[in-house]
Amino acid sequence: MNAFRIVPSVAEYAEFCGFAKEAALGEKDLILTNEYIYQPAISALNLGCQTLFQEQYGAGEPTDVMVDAILSALAGKEYERLVAVGGGTIIDIAKVLAVAKRGERVDDLYAHMGTLEKVHPLLIVPTTCGTGSEVTNISIINRTTKGVKQGIVSPAMFADQAVLIPGMLASLPYGVYATSSIDAMIHAVESYLSPDACPLSELFSEKALELILPCWKAAADSGEKDGWKPYAAEFLRASNYAGIAFGHAGCAAVHALSYPLGGVHHVAHGESNQVMFAPVLQKYLEKHPTGKINRLETLLSKLLGCAETAAIPALYSLMDRVLPRRPMREYGVTEDELPRYADSVIETQQRLLGHNYVPLTRDEILAIYKCAY
Ligand SMILES: [Fe+2]
Repeated sequence: MNAFRIVPSVAEYAEFCGFAKEAALGEKDLILTNEYIYQPAISALNLGCQTLFQEQYGAGEPTDVMVDAILSALAGKEYERLVAVGGGTIIDIAKVLAVAKRGERVDDLYAHMGTLEKVHPLLIVPTTCGTGSEVTNISIINRTTKGVKQGIVSPAMFADQAVLIPGMLASLPYGVYATSSIDAMIHAVESYLSPDACPLSELFSEKALELILPCWKAAADSGEKDGWKPYAAEFLRASNYAGIAFGHAGCAAVHALSYPLGGVHHVAHGESNQVMFAPVLQKYLEKHPTGKINRLETLLSKLLGCAETAAIPALYSLMDRVLPRRPMREYGVTEDELPRYADSVIETQQRLLGHNYVPLTRDEILAIYKCAY
């Protein structure tokens, strides 16, 4: 039995300056971020920190090529703490940099994952409302040389501190709010239904949903694109709570089945999860209609003010108001790709599939894909 624990300390500040002052950020610290985040929110503070802008080493989700290029660029720098400020890509890269010894490449880290040690103290400031990655010890890297997205996992990759700063979400575009908050909602649901959930992790899954759903509704009812911004603190906390929950109980089939959509067709992580969410839950309900999923229905019915039997469809409707769902075909997927996706999920995503509410066979996974198509 894996005991529940939260490893990083978690702190909250209204703005970055409060965190910078308390942490006494300075010349021995390296800030890993994007320039579009650094310039408006950090630059004027004149902290004297060293900086590295991730986008100079490649676009999109983290790849081995991108991380190796960053490792090479850092080889000549002397720094102590690593401060990651950004979304999922920045955070995943930072966790790898924190454990890489001088001269090591990404492949080396996979080769001795069991003996990784923290090289740089790590502080993480998430700037979306989705990843929850600031409190987990896994980093997903697209190993382009091997054609597979694979997690590096190690206790050494936990941050020392997760820092929640609602002010850092002020310039987040609507699309990133939408996809990242959908991702957080799915983390909450998948971790809640996971057979590895425990009463403590369930508290965090439940609280994440209690924060996200009313704020989604209030934001959508406002009719304004920025209607979610008054709730930035709630979305950030919800993402963090869902991260704590899935850090313990895991994510499952929704994340597993969405990988090919992200990897092959470059659909944003939260959006590709959204495509798979309803078809996976539908399969769960079909295979195991009475069980823990009924507790989820009870929770959702209270939050959404509807009958338990209508609760899951009501969740889909609310999610559609945040971002309308699209079928797989609209992302350029062709029907003959689906059997290959099912095979690849069985072959490479067992870590996630092990957290499924009910086991799914290859044919059932294919049926889910056809339903999402
Ligand atoms: Fe996710």
